[in-house]
Amino acid sequence: MSVLVTGGAGYIGSHTCIELLNNNYDVIVVDNLCNSSPKSLKRVGDITKKKIKFYKADVCDKNALRNIFTENKIDCVIHFAGLKAVGESVQKPLEYYDNNLSSTLTLLKVMNEYNVKKIVFSSSATVYSSDNEMPLTEDCKTGNCTNPYGWTKYMGEQIFRDLAKSDSEWAIALLRYFNPIGAHKSGLIGESPKDIPNNLMPYVSQVAIGKLKELSVFGNDYDTLDGTGVRDYIHVVDLAKGHVAAIDYINKHKGLDVFNLGTGVGYSVLDIVNAFEDTTNQKVPYKITARRAGDLATVYSDPTKSKKLLGWKAENGIKEMCLDAWNWQKNNPNGYE
Ligand code: NAD
Ligand code: UFG
Repeated sequence: MSVLVTGGAGYIGSHTCIELLNNNYDVIVVDNLCNSSPKSLKRVGDITKKKIKFYKADVCDKNALRNIFTENKIDCVIHFAGLKAVGESVQKPLEYYDNNLSSTLTLLKVMNEYNVKKIVFSSSATVYSSDNEMPLTEDCKTGNCTNPYGWTKYMGEQIFRDLAKSDSEWAIALLRYFNPIGAHKSGLIGESPKDIPNNLMPYVSQVAIGKLKELSVFGNDYDTLDGTGVRDYIHVVDLAKGHVAAIDYINKHKGLDVFNLGTGVGYSVLDIVNAFEDTTNQKVPYKITARRAGDLATVYSDPTKSKKLLGWKAENGIKEMCLDAWNWQKNNPNGYE
């Protein structure tokens, strides 16, 4: 059975390719490499000793996609391709709406043409509205997104919902990721931010290795145990395994389902700093600064539905997340560069 993975050279995509190959799926990747390196896929090959067929192409390019569907017998698709930097999306809204929505629409139209109607979509916890109680279940209120990136995921989900209503042959899983961190145990693949990282864990590991001077902790006056923001961090390999479970699910169930992929446990920024220092023996100097605009105090999932319907749950704890993030960072101080 073959899976087309859009954005498969990226952080989550490359980890998912490994899990798919380990479960004997044939994997075809399409990626324009706008935020990734072809080295990630070469290393996926080294780790799994299996081959991936790679197309360097834009998912917004209909003819390039048609060519891929003509040359390969594709059974289902995992759609990771998209731009994901929250701050950049505020500066470049048109680029974000264009890339994230056009890629999804083009992909779905071509899938329709080739009668391939099974898809897993990368959504995000960011689609949840800020006025929900924690933990977040899949039924919680969505919308009120605070940035264009979040809206692209919200609108993306709506496109899938309308499509599922129009044609009952579609099998669709919308996966809402919480905060993926860490890296593959081999230390060969991981997150490789092109600029100064926006997200906590890559920032922490770059401070630990001495590339950045100190971490700014964005606010310590939130209504949380230690005053710093709380999130549901999930090991990227667990997240990747969630995709294999979702593929199994859509092979058996038509219609549309939404799933949280999180651990259900919240850690504060200082919990992460302390866990990182304890597990790696590296110092992470930090200073407390002002809150970052748009941040919430506490976000964590209720992953019960994923456990029940997908038979999936996150296995790795915070120690593994920190150790594996550090293992990747120290073996690849400049990422894939
Ligand atoms: P990433 O940037 O590492 O991977 C995305 C990949 O898509 C990159 O390899 C990029 O080159 C490719 N891409 C982008 N636009 C493309 C296009 N038009 N055509 C072909 N390829 C294109 O990001 P990631 O962290 O692996 O995220 C994967 C998906 O998960 C994204 O859709 C992202 O929005 C979503 N997501 C990520 C997080 C997170 O914290 N990392 C959280 C929630 C959701
Ligand atoms: N933080 C710092 N200092 C930093 C970076 C982050 O204190 O340098 C804090 C933030 O204030 C927040 C926590 O660390 O409390 C996590 O921040 P991240 O930027 O790592 O993650 P977010 O929860 O803000 O957002 C991430 C992705 C979004 C995605 C969301 C939910 O960036 O795209 O998780 O999946 F939608």
